[in-house]
Amino acid sequence: MHSLSQFVASLLAGVAVFSSPTDAFWRLPCRGRTGVARMDPLVDPGMIAYHAHAVEGSGNFALSVTEDSLRASNCTSCAVLQDRSAYWAPPLYFLHTNGSAELVEQVGGMLVYYLLYGENVTAFPEGFRMLAGDTYQRNFTWPIPDPPKSDWTGAQLSQKALQQKALGFNCLNYAVAAEPSLYRHFLPNKTFIDEQCVDGVRFELMFPSCWNGKDVDSPDHKSHMAYPTLVMDGDCPEGYESRLVSMFFETIWNTYAFKDVEGEFVIANGDPTGYGYHGDFITGWEPDFLQEAVETCTNATGMVVDCPIFDLQDEDAQEQCKFEVPEALQDENVYMHANGLPGNILIEPGPAYASPVRYVGVSTASASAAAAAADSTSSVAVDIISSTSAAAVDLISSTAVAAVSEVRQLESATPTMTSYETTVTQEIIYIEQEIVVYINDEGVPTETETAGLQTVSSTYTTTTQVVYSTVSEASQPVKRNLGHSHGHKHGHFFH
Ligand SMILES: *[C@@H]1O[C@H](CO)[C@@H](O)[C@H](O)[C@H]1NC(C)=O
Ligand SMILES: *[C@@H]1O[C@H](CO)[C@@H](O)[C@H](O)[C@H]1NC(C)=O
Ligand SMILES: *[C@@H]1O[C@H](CO)[C@@H](O)[C@H](O)[C@H]1NC(C)=O
Ligand SMILES: *[C@@H]1O[C@H](CO)[C@@H](O)[C@H](O)[C@H]1NC(C)=O
Ligand SMILES: *[C@@H]1O[C@H](CO)[C@@H](O)[C@H](O)[C@H]1NC(C)=O
Ligand SMILES: *[C@@H]1O[C@H](CO)[C@@H](O)[C@H](O)[C@H]1NC(C)=O
Repeated sequence: MHSLSQFVASLLAGVAVFSSPTDAFWRLPCRGRTGVARMDPLVDPGMIAYHAHAVEGSGNFALSVTEDSLRASNCTSCAVLQDRSAYWAPPLYFLHTNGSAELVEQVGGMLVYYLLYGENVTAFPEGFRMLAGDTYQRNFTWPIPDPPKSDWTGAQLSQKALQQKALGFNCLNYAVAAEPSLYRHFLPNKTFIDEQCVDGVRFELMFPSCWNGKDVDSPDHKSHMAYPTLVMDGDCPEGYESRLVSMFFETIWNTYAFKDVEGEFVIANGDPTGYGYHGDFITGWEPDFLQEAVETCTNATGMVVDCPIFDLQDEDAQEQCKFEVPEALQDENVYMHANGLPGNILIEPGPAYASPVRYVGVSTASASAAAAAADSTSSVAVDIISSTSAAAVDLISSTAVAAVSEVRQLESATPTMTSYETTVTQEIIYIEQEIVVYINDEGVPTETETAGLQTVSSTYTTTTQVVYSTVSEASQPVKRNLGHSHGHKHGHFFH
């Protein structure tokens, strides 16, 4: 296992390799992380977000923020003191076989590249904010690997395709040649990570840089922006001709710490694939100052120390800056979360779109035939979450977006108590899953075989009822004599 100091020492070797390094840029180190919490002031202002984010930048990150409140912070976790922006993205978790989700160590904070691609690049305007990526995406329908960029035509140039190609998951091994940035658009599997990625996995996220020239935000926080034809570089589409600074997040996760540990990697938004990786940004720069930086910080080294107008702080000071976690979230352990991810969201491996968001252990309303279709995903998710965990989980899926969002709000206000009255028809499916745990002579588990979920029976009920949370006890594993034990797990699906 590699130690943290080795990782940090080799961090410089791990910086992004861009295809056309001739354009000016600077690489903003954010060695501190202001915090990890289920907060998203861009997408879910004023409420608790459904999944956790790792946050860098202004110390005034909160459930609700404005550019002014961010700027009023007395600190930033990044190197440049004039920057009070907030940068956030879902962190990586490792899901142990006992169901606990452990936050993977984030190595060296984050690097935010400010790349000056294109002509007449301008600073982010006052109040500017944006989101890159799609948290619900779970598949990739374009050729793998990317064909040469000169061959991209038609649908390959659609915003949807470009958005997916704006994600990168680099397998790091500093002893061999580096993979280029945005080379692989999905999270490699655990076997591959264990074998190849001795220095961790680097998550990369390219933001769109073509602006419509008027809106500082939009309802989906995306449609005021577009990607240029080559994701980073290239031409801006019609209607989005204003070129802003191109922003690129880079975060390294110490996946190698879990080498040979049984379990799986999953991003905090319930995504084990990587296709749903995304990031958010709210500017906290003075626009005039940032514009001056765009014009002056052109040294080819890309180092912030080579830009004369930046006031810098050292890494210690960057690491001191923390945001205040709201009271409602203070008891949520985001470092080692029992029974799945913080927020108890389902892990959805796709390929179906993972919207609406569903939860483990929270029941919601609505019966419909369509829910049955969604159930295959649920089964997979509950399988992953609860396999070998102590309790089987009641899983309730719903196709009613309104009901789900109501539950989210209830969850937000008081995460441990969810209740509201509604008339529902439920199909209760009793499921059974066989888990065989092999043990050695000392009784230590050596291997676990998990069978698929079997439907035992199902019934329908229509009631007026209160939405509730439940966790039912699993039956105890029955010991077998011949060197292995054997158990059954029972759960219920409501939909
Ligand atoms: C910022 O304010 C907080 C809360 O008042 C304080 O604990 C912290 O030391 C301050 N940080 C700096 C860099 O002044
Ligand atoms: C699950 O396993 C991990 C790794 O061994 C451990 O740190 C964690 O405490 C366990 N969680 C529970 C709830 O036992
Ligand atoms: C950049 O600005 C110059 C001068 O205003 C203008 O001639 C040129 O067309 C602009 N380039 C682009 C790509 O907009
Ligand atoms: C893991 O990924 C590698 C490389 O993409 C592939 O060759 C291998 O078959 C995958 N293994 C599993 C278990 O999916
Ligand atoms: C770029 O920075 C280096 C120091 O790292 C300095 O020697 C060099 O003169 C700078 N180049 C320009 C064009 O300012
Ligand atoms: C792939 O994702 C898209 C959403 O981007 C979704 O519409 C489509 O149904 C998904 N494909 C499959 C096979 O589920």
